[in-house]
Amino acid sequence: MIKYKTREEIELIRESAIIVSKTLGLMASKIKPGITPLQLDAWAEEFIRDQGAVPGFLGLYDYPNAIITSVNEQVVHGIPTDRPLEEGDIVGVDIGALKNGYYGDHAYTFEVGEVEPKTKKLLEVTKECLDLGIAQVKKGNRMGDLSYAIQNHAESNGYGVVRELVGHGLGKDMHESPEVPNFGKRGRGPMFREGLVIAIEPMINMGTRNVKQLADGWTIVTADKKPSAHFEHNVAVIDGKAEVLSTFDYVDQELSKAKA
Ligand code: CO
Repeated sequence: MIKYKTREEIELIRESAIIVSKTLGLMASKIKPGITPLQLDAWAEEFIRDQGAVPGFLGLYDYPNAIITSVNEQVVHGIPTDRPLEEGDIVGVDIGALKNGYYGDHAYTFEVGEVEPKTKKLLEVTKECLDLGIAQVKKGNRMGDLSYAIQNHAESNGYGVVRELVGHGLGKDMHESPEVPNFGKRGRGPMFREGLVIAIEPMINMGTRNVKQLADGWTIVTADKKPSAHFEHNVAVIDGKAEVLSTFDYVDQELSKAKA
C-alpha cells in the first residue's frame, strides 16, 4: 500500500533530506586519497547527530554503520572499512537521516583525486539518468515512464542497469511502497499522485548488469568487477509536479571550492 503524504509530512521529509544533503557536502570536503571510509562514517555520524537527527541506516536490518560506502566495483551496500581510498577510485556514499519520525535518504558517487575519463563519463551519465527519471515525475505519468527513461539513457550509453535493487517510497519508514525500478516499460506501474514521496536511485554499471553479493551479507558488487555508480534524490509530487526534496548544492559548493 502506498502512503501518500500531507504537505506537513513532506516538509518533515525535506528537513531530513537536507540534513543528508549537508552531510554529503561534508563528505565532499573530506574525500581524497588516504582517507578511509570508516573515517567518513565517523564524521558523518557526528554531523548527523549534531543536527538533532539519527543516522538512518544504523541498525536498519542490523546494518552495522552510520553510512554506506561503495568503492569502485561495489554497487551499493558497501560497509565502511579502514582501507584508504586511492587516487582514481570512485566511492558511492549513501546516507540516511531520521528526524521527527521521517527519513531522508540520498546518495552521491564521488571521485577520489583524478579518475579515468571513462569513469567520469559513467558518473555523468548516471547523474543524467537520475535527472531524466525525475523529469518523468508528474501527474498523469506512471512509474514505468520514469523506469524507461533511466534504462534507455543508461543502455544507449552501453551501460548495464542493475535489476536486483530498486528505489522506493520514503516516509516514516526508510523503504516504503512503491518500488522505483530503474528499468521498465512506458505506461506501466502506479500513477504519480499528489503526496507521493519516492527515492529515485539509478545504479548503473560500466559493464554488464549482473551483480553478486559478497560473503559479508551486505556488499553488492558487479559480476565483471567493472565500476558502478549510484546517485539518489528524494522527490515528492506537489501540485502535480516533481519537487526534489534533497539537493547536491552542498556537494557542488565543496567540489568547486576544491577546484578553485
Ligand atoms: Co534509497
